[in-house]
Amino acid sequence: MQEGARPTVGQYIYQAEAQFLDSDIFFGHGTMEALDEAAWLVGSAIGLAPAELDDALERELTASEINKLDALVRRRIDERIPVAYLLNEAWFAGHRFYIDERALIPRSLIAEYILEHFQPWIEEDRIHSVLDLCTGSGCIAIAIALEFPETHVDAADISADALKVAIKNMQDYGLGDRVELIQSDLFEALGNRHYDIIVSNPPYVPPSSMLALPQEYKHEPELALVAEDNGLDIVDRILAQAAEHLNEGGLLIVEVGESREALEQRFPHMPFTWLSHESGEETVFLLNRNDLTGTR
Ligand SMILES: C[S@@+](CC[C@H](N)C(=O)[O-])C[C@H]1O[C@@H](n2cnc3c(N)ncnc32)[C@H](O)[C@@H]1O
Repeated sequence: MQEGARPTVGQYIYQAEAQFLDSDIFFGHGTMEALDEAAWLVGSAIGLAPAELDDALERELTASEINKLDALVRRRIDERIPVAYLLNEAWFAGHRFYIDERALIPRSLIAEYILEHFQPWIEEDRIHSVLDLCTGSGCIAIAIALEFPETHVDAADISADALKVAIKNMQDYGLGDRVELIQSDLFEALGNRHYDIIVSNPPYVPPSSMLALPQEYKHEPELALVAEDNGLDIVDRILAQAAEHLNEGGLLIVEVGESREALEQRFPHMPFTWLSHESGEETVFLLNRNDLTGTR
């Protein structure tokens, strides 16, 4: 680059990538590596949609864009704030969501199963009602509503703060008539409602593991991450109550992350099906309603 010349979009992305690689930051809240993180931050901060970025790489940045980007890169490195919170933007199942520190950054493995329409586990034409338990930003509930235009989705969370984020997302997608947000401690406020699928990405990090998590996680609500009882508190309660809220033949699909081993030890007779994921991770289980009765 010439002395004094302003960098192009592409040059700035490589410069930010180098700064990220030279720092201690952790990737995993939307991207898995420095170049993707830099491209996302730069593109979005200067108002480019992902599809527009390639064509803009040769464009010279303006002085005010450079100031804005410099400040964001510094905050990413110095304060370890995930890009999603810096930009108030997250991508999930191909859709853009508003996000801020009141809710967990969307990244659940469940996105893949939504896009596959939960095949081959349930006939698509019998998915009329879905519950997204522990909905946070509403990303799972909204992605399901967008994939299944005839389906009603309830989205429950105990956190009033998280539900404010979910309301914004639901309004942004105009889904007010098909996604119902409910403040509830798990099933408590759901009365006698029944569903064809109950899906959940609940908190499952054991309190003892919290200290070891990279600093980026400290910006997320603790309520969204930590579960007592070695990470199993919430999942255990879901397993105990889900059958009462599932229609005959209904499915329970739950992400449990690092708690898989502890869960299998606690419920050795529960016939979990562990769903394969393109990342290689197998930490989302599926159970049929019948599996839930009599196996605890
Ligand atoms: C891991 S986050 C998942 C958020 C969102 N579903 C996602 O995948 O991005 C877990 C969510 O569970 C909520 N939560 C924690 N305890 C709960 C409870 N007892 N009942 C309902 N929701 C709870 C938290 O507020 C948080 O929004």
